[in-house]
Amino acid sequence: MSRVDGRQKVTGRATYAAEFDQPGQAHGVIVRSTVANGRIASIDGAAAERAPGVVAVLTHRNAPRLAYRAHKGVVDPEVGERLHVLQDDRVNHQGQPIALVVAETLEQANHAATLVRVTYAPETGTTDITRVEPVLPTLQKTDQGETRPPDTRRGDPEGALAAAEVKLTESYAIPRENHNPIEMHATIAAWDGDRLTLWDKTQWVNNTAAEIAAVFGIPAENIRVVSPFVGGAFGSSLRTWPHVTLAVLGARVARRPVKVMLSRREMYYGVGYRPHTVQRVALGASRDGRLAAILHEGYQETSTYEEFSEALLNASRFLHSCPNVYTRHRIAPMNVHTPTYMRAPGEASGVFALESAMDELAVALGIDPVELRLRNEPEIDEFKKLPFSSRSTRECYRAAAERFGWSRRSPEPRSMRDGRWLIGWGMATATYPMNYAPATAMARLLPDGTAEVTSAASDMGPGTWTSMTQVAAETFGLPIERVKFTLGDTRLPKAPVHGGSMTMASVGSAVQAACRKAREDALARGGANDLADAMRRIGQPVEAMGEVKPGDESQRFSMHSFGAVFVEVAVDPDLGETRARRMVGAYGAGRIVNPKTTRSQCIGGMIGGIGMALMEHAVVDARNGRVPNANFAEYAVPVHADAPPVMDVIFLEEHDPHVNPLGVKGVGEIAMVGVAPAITNAIFHATGKRIRELPVTPDKLL
Ligand code: MOS
Repeated sequence: MSRVDGRQKVTGRATYAAEFDQPGQAHGVIVRSTVANGRIASIDGAAAERAPGVVAVLTHRNAPRLAYRAHKGVVDPEVGERLHVLQDDRVNHQGQPIALVVAETLEQANHAATLVRVTYAPETGTTDITRVEPVLPTLQKTDQGETRPPDTRRGDPEGALAAAEVKLTESYAIPRENHNPIEMHATIAAWDGDRLTLWDKTQWVNNTAAEIAAVFGIPAENIRVVSPFVGGAFGSSLRTWPHVTLAVLGARVARRPVKVMLSRREMYYGVGYRPHTVQRVALGASRDGRLAAILHEGYQETSTYEEFSEALLNASRFLHSCPNVYTRHRIAPMNVHTPTYMRAPGEASGVFALESAMDELAVALGIDPVELRLRNEPEIDEFKKLPFSSRSTRECYRAAAERFGWSRRSPEPRSMRDGRWLIGWGMATATYPMNYAPATAMARLLPDGTAEVTSAASDMGPGTWTSMTQVAAETFGLPIERVKFTLGDTRLPKAPVHGGSMTMASVGSAVQAACRKAREDALARGGANDLADAMRRIGQPVEAMGEVKPGDESQRFSMHSFGAVFVEVAVDPDLGETRARRMVGAYGAGRIVNPKTTRSQCIGGMIGGIGMALMEHAVVDARNGRVPNANFAEYAVPVHADAPPVMDVIFLEEHDPHVNPLGVKGVGEIAMVGVAPAITNAIFHATGKRIRELPVTPDKLL
């Protein structure tokens, strides 16, 4: 099924946050600190206030005091406190908002922002990750136990490594990466008495309302958040960032609607990023390729005011069978703004290190990389000591290898060529947890035989509009054209965060439950077998709420998607340029509701992986925390010309009754996992050079 909103999008009729212009709207522009640490010694907005069109200039000296009541959304760091905007003279990071200029036009606001005079009392800041001593994160406990255990150990990892017949220890680094969706973050805020409406780019309208309610000390019910379309996000819109608060503050002071839209440059200073990670992996194995020890350590940057940490080492605990495993996670607090989840957070980075090391081990053993993984395929989750609800890794290796033609690979590095290009074939394993959260939806059957279904879900691009319409139509037994699904508004039934690959599983199950109930109700009341007949007879709408939530399945099963990625690269031996020529991804991800949008989702993730492997690098100036390449001229991302001409996506048939009512495991994140190591493994095969620091730019291959 093609996208129901495809026509709206290509004809420009899909309305994004910045396009909901309001009558009387003014424009807010943020002034940002030019030091990474210290205090504001003086800030003078007088000249800005006198500039043409200026409505208000807000600084910490005149901004209203905000409530900042306690609030933790599931995506907020569990330890620490969000940045309080314009509440004091403290500067914690380069680019921190220190003033908001509101003016009649964007140009006037931009001009006036240059007139705000600031002096600082700078202090020495921590902006160089190579000089930070990583520290133990605060232990984070939930009902389920520790969420990110800083240290885990089973067996005798050090002893087993020392005794192993073959061993290696290597370090891997991934620099900071930014989300860079096409649509910049934007918020339009409009007060009506004590009620507030926000048109916002968000992956979670309910959380935006809850968070802004906490910041301003007002009831969440007083806030309506509207966000029907999101032009990509990849995690940057999971939580609410300072510009949202500033738009609301500006609108309150100016007493009229205010729009704040970030520039591309500002996207590098205020909406999170994938943190820089430094990892070390030690593997020990027997000569016949059985893993004896895995020791995986890593740390990542975070801010001084929040402890952000992601599941960097989780996959190493269960992806391959191994009796002796040690993982050690640390964080590096720095004068930077808080990082956040970015597509496949944790797994994309951690699996890069693990699957690179596995390839190095395969080379050391002289065993085919696929064969090495097959020899270490676990029967259960050896960390949680639980059975997998389903795991199709073997089938993924087999299907992808066959489609790719892996058996024709000659194992020696530099042994395959195409003219002057060096050809390399590489592969890696992928995994991502199955996430499923409480969700609600409303189904409404109408007498004319059509139906309306709603949930406050988001669609940042994967196709939620479409897939939910499809689930509803299937469940009702109605043609697609008769079903209208609506999302992206806090007035609709509550939905969980549009992240962690859980929307199809959660909202999809709620939509199914609501439609099933409405259908059964209608058939019973109408005394008919045919829904259209029943509705005609009833003559008025039939409504039902669907509500789903996880049971105890996570205590009984280890639930993940699994996959395998195979890549062919061509490396120019003279210029060091790498091109991904072919990619095959095979995934065991439970039920695939819409093969067309799901394939599209996977291709997007795989191309994102090309960016991670070969291009993306937010350079941080170690002296002051500035990002000198905060623009699309110098922060390279893959474009169409960088996408391989051949991209194959295979979904293994999987019927998993344990995960959620729909049997969906999700693919949004897993599609990005394993791509970077498959590419660097292929580069090694092409060139004989093992690159352990991303991205693999030409200089590293010359
Ligand atoms: Mo995803 S990083 O949970 O948007």
